[in-house]
Amino acid sequence: MCGIVGYTGKREAYPVILKGLKRLEYRGYDSAGVALLNNGLKVYKKKGKVAELEDSVVGKDLHAFTGIGHTRWATHGEPSDRNAHPHSSASGNIAMIHNGIIENYTSIKQELINKGYTFTSDTDTEVLLNFIEDIKKNNESSLEEALRIALKRVVGAYCILLIDKDDPETIIAARKGSPLVIGIGKGEHFLASDATPIVEYTKEVVYVNDYEIAIVKPDQLILKNLGNEKQTPFIQKLDIELAKIEKGGYDHFMLKEIYEQPETIHDCLRGRLNSAAGTITMGGVESNLQALTDANRIVMVACGTSWHAGLIAEYIFEELCRIPVEVEYASEFRYRNPVINKGDVIIAISQSGETADTLVALENAKEKGAFIFGVVNAVGSSIARMSNAGAYTHAGPEIGVASTKAFTGQLAVLTMMALKIGYAKGTIDERRYMQLLRELDEIPEKVKQLLQNTSNIEKIANKYKDAEDFLYLGRGYNFPVALEGALKLKEISYIHAEGYPAAEMKHGPIALVDENLPVVFVATKDSYYEKIVSNVQEIKARRGKVIAVASEGDKVIPGMADDVMYVPDADEILAPLLSVIPLQLLSYYVGIAKGIDVDKPRNLAKSVTVE
Ligand code: AGP
Repeated sequence: MCGIVGYTGKREAYPVILKGLKRLEYRGYDSAGVALLNNGLKVYKKKGKVAELEDSVVGKDLHAFTGIGHTRWATHGEPSDRNAHPHSSASGNIAMIHNGIIENYTSIKQELINKGYTFTSDTDTEVLLNFIEDIKKNNESSLEEALRIALKRVVGAYCILLIDKDDPETIIAARKGSPLVIGIGKGEHFLASDATPIVEYTKEVVYVNDYEIAIVKPDQLILKNLGNEKQTPFIQKLDIELAKIEKGGYDHFMLKEIYEQPETIHDCLRGRLNSAAGTITMGGVESNLQALTDANRIVMVACGTSWHAGLIAEYIFEELCRIPVEVEYASEFRYRNPVINKGDVIIAISQSGETADTLVALENAKEKGAFIFGVVNAVGSSIARMSNAGAYTHAGPEIGVASTKAFTGQLAVLTMMALKIGYAKGTIDERRYMQLLRELDEIPEKVKQLLQNTSNIEKIANKYKDAEDFLYLGRGYNFPVALEGALKLKEISYIHAEGYPAAEMKHGPIALVDENLPVVFVATKDSYYEKIVSNVQEIKARRGKVIAVASEGDKVIPGMADDVMYVPDADEILAPLLSVIPLQLLSYYVGIAKGIDVDKPRNLAKSVTVE
């Protein structure tokens, strides 16, 4: 899950590549580097963030019209200058950058060592590069041909860009599993892991498919498969605005994206939800309504925050559609050899649409005949393209590593799907259906209200920022919200936090409770309310510090809690769209109070494109 950028054209390549790397830095920030073609090959690379690379090349010769750049999330070999990309081949003539993992690199490395090769890094990438150069040398073939031969031996995921000092205007690229987008300009081409580095130069892009090789020159883009057959590039128009990928005056993308939610939830509902007419229009659902209403079972497959959205959707789909739902961690579902029967529907949930665990789980399920419905944010992403049908969450580019607006977008889409399928099946009565449509329409406004005054949440964050552990508790629809709150705090503040169904406490975890442990209760007014009140009393009885997310107007929970974050009242099915937001902000403010770079927390990356 590194960031890859390439440019060939008439502009100075270095500034284009550097800016692109900064846009992709949320994909990995362990080291960064560039390779430029100008009277030979110049490679500059540095451990740390892109800014450290930028400082390290001041005064260096950076003039070139063709180059490649990389920002790294370390897999093979710790973050360091020598493990940073680009890597140079043994001859020094070829440079390569790579996003992915070459699983059989040790056997290839041994073959090369037996031939006398030595390696300057611990990476699988340098092994693949020298393997390609070895084939080129021994077969007296072109770099493109050598790459094709080498890739037939490779096991794993890759997006790679190569440049050769003997071919000064050409970039050769290949992908399998890791994303690659090529931007088409006039007399220039841009290559990147996603569209964010490209959108300010051109809206015309090609999403490269698995097992494709691209030969890119300023005036030429050729796509071929591994069989050396030409493929016709499918040019698509980007619908991203530059402003969407800028901070827009906010200190961090995470805060901007939290505050964008009234708009992004509205964008997700717009053109789909018509509460006055009592209709929900979703093309992907309509054209597959039979498969969805007749589903014997729905299996939600996802990772991280998207998995939490799946858990909430389990409650919603079972309540409104009366269809049995299972929620699977994609990585476990992939290797568990799950039972998939005809009539099963897989709902794949992913912000990036590129998460390798989810992708490979879907490929496996698809081979077994499952119908795949994708709920994805990134337009044109791999999961979107491999799904049989789907619905975009329209949250716009999400740059902050901690997912926020994409999560509420996923909840909005999954709720509309359940309402539409339940109504078609007749498992929801007319009055309830219309009431939920009306209330869903009011959510963006309620989020706006909620975000109008968050100073209380900032105060609570500063009060508990030095805690070593947190517990997050909820029941029913709010249980997965508690899990999401705990994940956000872990990601952004590095404080250990666990989410639990509140009633589960008595079966062990309550032993952790004392006056030093903050316990966050997601305790909005719902059908579990009476039960959660007693759970709060159990924690208070052990002098635990209770921070509660409570419904406006509630007098009971606030009377018991040490600190309260209020949310507008809403039907329990829709409440997670509101109750998660104070938890997003709590983690943000704790992270800020601890001086953490909340947009790029340590050891994480936005899109996990390796298994
Ligand atoms: C959430 O804040 C994390 N960034 C992470 O858990 C994320 O949700 C997970 O990697 C899944 O990503 P996806 O939605 O892009 O598939």
